[in-house]
Amino acid sequence: MSSNKDTVGGTIKVALILCVVCSVFISSAAVILKPFQVSNKLLDRNKNILIAAGMFDPALNSDSEVDALFAQFDLQVVDLDSGEALSAERLAELNIDPATYDERAVFSDAQYSDAIPADEDVADLKRRVKYATVYTLDASDGSLETIVLPISGYGLWGTMYGYLALDGDGNTVNGIGFYDHKETPGLGGEINNPRWKALWPGKQIFDADGDVALSVVKGAGEGVHEVDGLSGASLTSRGVDNMIEFWLGSNGFGPFLTNLSEG
Ligand SMILES: Cc1cc2nc3c(=O)[nH]c(=O)nc-3n(C[C@H](O)[C@H](O)[C@H](O)COP(=O)(O)O)c2cc1C
Repeated sequence: MSSNKDTVGGTIKVALILCVVCSVFISSAAVILKPFQVSNKLLDRNKNILIAAGMFDPALNSDSEVDALFAQFDLQVVDLDSGEALSAERLAELNIDPATYDERAVFSDAQYSDAIPADEDVADLKRRVKYATVYTLDASDGSLETIVLPISGYGLWGTMYGYLALDGDGNTVNGIGFYDHKETPGLGGEINNPRWKALWPGKQIFDADGDVALSVVKGAGEGVHEVDGLSGASLTSRGVDNMIEFWLGSNGFGPFLTNLSEG
């Protein structure tokens, strides 16, 4: 006895079974892999913070060293307007966990971010988060040794994201690093060239009046406030200059750094 399986109904049945099996497989994979994605994202963030602070070199250090090095940092989520760290109650109200809070994920959410008035939007960001994580590291004598701040701003082709590390005085640059950008490799992409980044440590942010004086200039930078611009990449260099002006100014971490200097 034989049966003809090549019917329209049979084909639809096989296709439906295949769809259900595939969707169950893909959904299970997404659920099972989610914790790995989250921990890899955090590992990457932590590594970039350590790189900006000059504590990690991907060529010398292994990923397994990241956790131990990063564990030395304290995390505080700061209200950018007041420059004050959020209390535990306020963090709970806002549903923010400092360990996993991601400024980029809440960038468009009106509860967590505001539109920047056009005349104040020097880094061309359009919006600014109300709360940002500050990473601090204490020296063995208990004094503040390093402060790492998340920074971002538009370059030539898109928004550049990075970290700026400062010494405990809140004024001297310790290092800088970028972990996401769309600049052209060999031109604007040189923002991640170790030789260019080596020009930053020791530079001073504020002048004697407390105004942001650190800038990226076209050509060779002079003195403690100027960093050489990247040759052939003036527009990216200006973008970095703008993000420094924005994030260290009154709309960025200015109030936090003022509080810090006033003890
Ligand atoms: C394909 C292409 C990609 C470019 N990418 C960048 C870039 O990523 N960043 C940048 O500032 N300039 C880039 N430029 C150059 C700018 O158009 C501009 O010429 C340059 O910023 C001027 O810098 P300079 O005044 O130092 O010569 C690119 C140009 C071309 C043709």
